Amino acid sequence: MAKIQIHHFVQSKQARRRLVALTAADYTIAQLLDRSEIDLVLVGDSLAMTALGYANTLPLTLDELIHHCAAVERAVERAFLVADLPFLTYQVSREQALYSAGRLLKEAGAAAVKLEGGYPAMAETVAALVEAGIPVMGHIGLTPQAVHQMGGFRQQGTTREAADRLLHEAKDLQQAGIFALVLEHIPADLARSISEQLVVPTFGIGAGEGCDGQILVTHDLLGLTERMPPFAKSYVNLREIVAEAIAQFCDEVRTGQFPLGDRES
Ligand code: KIV
Repeated sequence: MAKIQIHHFVQSKQARRRLVALTAADYTIAQLLDRSEIDLVLVGDSLAMTALGYANTLPLTLDELIHHCAAVERAVERAFLVADLPFLTYQVSREQALYSAGRLLKEAGAAAVKLEGGYPAMAETVAALVEAGIPVMGHIGLTPQAVHQMGGFRQQGTTREAADRLLHEAKDLQQAGIFALVLEHIPADLARSISEQLVVPTFGIGAGEGCDGQILVTHDLLGLTERMPPFAKSYVNLREIVAEAIAQFCDEVRTGQFPLGDRES
């Protein structure tokens, strides 16, 4: 089982092979994802909500992300492992970004980092990271770390001006050296147009089918999320299944059906 390397992503786009990425925050889920032969596992900062119960991604610390990424890394043998840079661990200066990204590679075993935003300063940060040998995945459109700036988790790129800006940001980030780009919650025709104009692959999430691949939060896919984003799809309702299993266990303990008595065990 060969480990996926960075050139796999551009090669897949060239071969028109759709890419698949999912998030993981713990060893067990990461193992299941890796064995499903997906291309990329993201230790996304959405774990702030799904694993840690924060209201949004802003409070997550670099130490918390590293803790989860190290657990995921122990399970991932094949997929390309990307770790999110949490809010305010890379925006302050290029030195801060280098230090934070370096810790994700050194201490948590990530192969690459993902950061949000595409304004000119972010492209410079990307270039500095890439120059230091750290692969970077970009993320534009709905960028949850800017939730307050955006006035909520709204679709982005809906005006002509905003769409043009996103296209420029995508090209700037590519120029700076990203190996792939997440396009979150933007109109499908805009995502298709950006994807067609880039050499590096795009991963859409709420961005239609014109992207080169798709990325989803695994908690959403499994139906574990209480309030699903409008663009996500759950393939199973694990909330219901788990709740039923727990209720059955409670019932069996209370009625003496579990554990089995000496005679039966
Ligand atoms: O943190 C996250 O889960 C993300 C999504 C794009 C999958 O960034």
